[in-house]
Amino acid sequence: MNSTNLETNKPIAVEFFLAATAAVGAGIFTNPIDVIKIRLQLQGELEARGAYRTIYKNTFHAGYVIAKHEGILALQSGIRSALAFQVVLNGIRLGSYKIGRSYGITNNDDGKTNIMKTCLLSGAAGVVGCVLGSPFYLVKTQMQAQSTEATLAVGHQHNHTSEWSAFKGLWKEAGIAGLYQRWYANIPRVFIGSATQLTTFSLVGDWLKTFSVSFPDLWAFIFQ
Ligand SMILES: *[C@@H]1O[C@H](CO)[C@@H](O)[C@H](O)[C@H]1NC(C)=O
Repeated sequence: MNSTNLETNKPIAVEFFLAATAAVGAGIFTNPIDVIKIRLQLQGELEARGAYRTIYKNTFHAGYVIAKHEGILALQSGIRSALAFQVVLNGIRLGSYKIGRSYGITNNDDGKTNIMKTCLLSGAAGVVGCVLGSPFYLVKTQMQAQSTEATLAVGHQHNHTSEWSAFKGLWKEAGIAGLYQRWYANIPRVFIGSATQLTTFSLVGDWLKTFSVSFPDLWAFIFQ
């Protein structure tokens, strides 16, 4: 079997669609957890220990309180921007990974994963994705921090009426500089996360390939 065939027999648009769908599916499940995390992190920010009222006691209590007072949809605050960020990040990451594999840029002479090159390419692609998508991340975070219920508000409230108006507001304030403020914030995290994830994925792919005769369907399912 020819490994190059196995990895390139789907058009890039289909690859992108599958990756985007997976990212959107995962994003819908993780966004409420992200909202809760942001609220817990902002609670008591810049205040002395014990000097602030504890609104959110723990993860489950925070979820309950937000849903009860702001409605269940408040747990999906910033969801459009969160999903857009995931699509940009993962599209660029997975696209670069696939190209690296298909053209042998990140392979050794035997066609197996070159760990150093795979780490560098997928880390760099992650960084490009997170920098390009950073306005989405910014709006996502501002929307998630924002509470419709004054008594539940923690941290700075931007009082955006919608995600779209948040983008317009940032643009009106300072143009590109407004949208891309703190564009560098996620770089270290995404570089390490991306490099580790995709290199592991690639090594598992190599390993599964050794079983390709006995498990062709599993192999095809995961890696094509
Ligand atoms: C948002 O609204 C709150 C409460 O009405 C107010 O205290 C705060 O200053 C507003 N924030 C901004 C950025 O306008």
